[in-house]
Amino acid sequence: MIVLGIETSCDETSVGIVRSGNELLSNVVASSMDAHVQYGGIVPEVAARAQSEYMIPVLEQSLAQAGCTWDDIDAIAVTYGPGLGGSLLVGVMTAKTLGQMHTKPLIPVNHVQAHMAVNFLTKSMLDLRLPERAPEFPALCLIVSGGHTQIVHYKSPLEYTILGQTRDDAVGEAFDKVAKILGLPYPGGPSIAKLAKKGNPQAYALPKSRLDFPYDFSFSGLKTAVLRLAQKEVGKDHSFPSFELAKHLSDGQKADIAASFQYTAIETLLDKLVKAEKGINPKSIIITGGVSANQYLRVRAHELFGSRLHETDPRLSTDNGAMIASLGYQIYKNKGRVTNYESLQIEPSLQM
Ligand code: KG4
Ligand code: ZN
Repeated sequence: MIVLGIETSCDETSVGIVRSGNELLSNVVASSMDAHVQYGGIVPEVAARAQSEYMIPVLEQSLAQAGCTWDDIDAIAVTYGPGLGGSLLVGVMTAKTLGQMHTKPLIPVNHVQAHMAVNFLTKSMLDLRLPERAPEFPALCLIVSGGHTQIVHYKSPLEYTILGQTRDDAVGEAFDKVAKILGLPYPGGPSIAKLAKKGNPQAYALPKSRLDFPYDFSFSGLKTAVLRLAQKEVGKDHSFPSFELAKHLSDGQKADIAASFQYTAIETLLDKLVKAEKGINPKSIIITGGVSANQYLRVRAHELFGSRLHETDPRLSTDNGAMIASLGYQIYKNKGRVTNYESLQIEPSLQM
């Protein structure tokens, strides 16, 4: 069975094609990030406009990369939430139109769940470093992205319980906001990770959030602590505007703040993951989502979990169509769940 997956929940326009749930035939991603950098964050209207331009060329390129025609495609999977309304509409309208044109079943996919499913991809002719085996169950999964921070207990590919999640900012959002304070380009994750290599992670002691719920997170306090630290370092009080800070901080101070922040944010994630791991003794531990591209997180998780750690190529950590096709396959195979063209609607606030 070959599933074509369409992803347009944020700034990416992506189409991936997956055979038998584990073989990645193609994954084409176009991003409108360059258009958002000047605003320091995603502008929804700009993202949706770019997606409506990129959609068809990305689709055609993905079919060509896979060496497939529409006769080869058995079903279309599409992200219907969560995400930006206008962006989701582009993907869902495209899927509905293609489904009707080519008489293919439609499989609606939850974007956050799909970040886990990308780990089922173990074979590809593309230049990617994929894991040799799919994760084993029960599995413990840390999903860390720009919108989500969750620890999820998976009993099987589609059966899960959320053990904990963020009460406020997602960890990726915290990386993006701290990057802004340091005058680094958007998206903040890769910029912070790069600068952190030059800094001392022990230079500043930043707070790890303490919550009554053992697996829940809070990152807004850490972000505020970085702001107060930067203000103090330049000799100003809390009223000094954050957008003025970068030009007063030295390169050394910025690198040390980036390293100390990264250290604290990642160790906070891992503290909770270790706690959860002790509780359920999973066969696999999966880290996934945009922030899982972080090298420091990967190295530390490897130290902690060894061969039980399941990770895929960092290029599949951020949003892509392959992960949508992968989850689409699991839904189709295990539940036979498809939707008709009329009833498929976007759900921007969809929960897991
Ligand atoms: O999963 P994703 O592509 O989109 C969402 O579903 O949100 O995640 C994007 C997030 C951004 O916040 C970005 O700053 C973060 O992932 N990110 C990273 C790294 N690469 C991307 N965070 C830390 N280290 C990285 N290397
Ligand atoms: Zn995502």
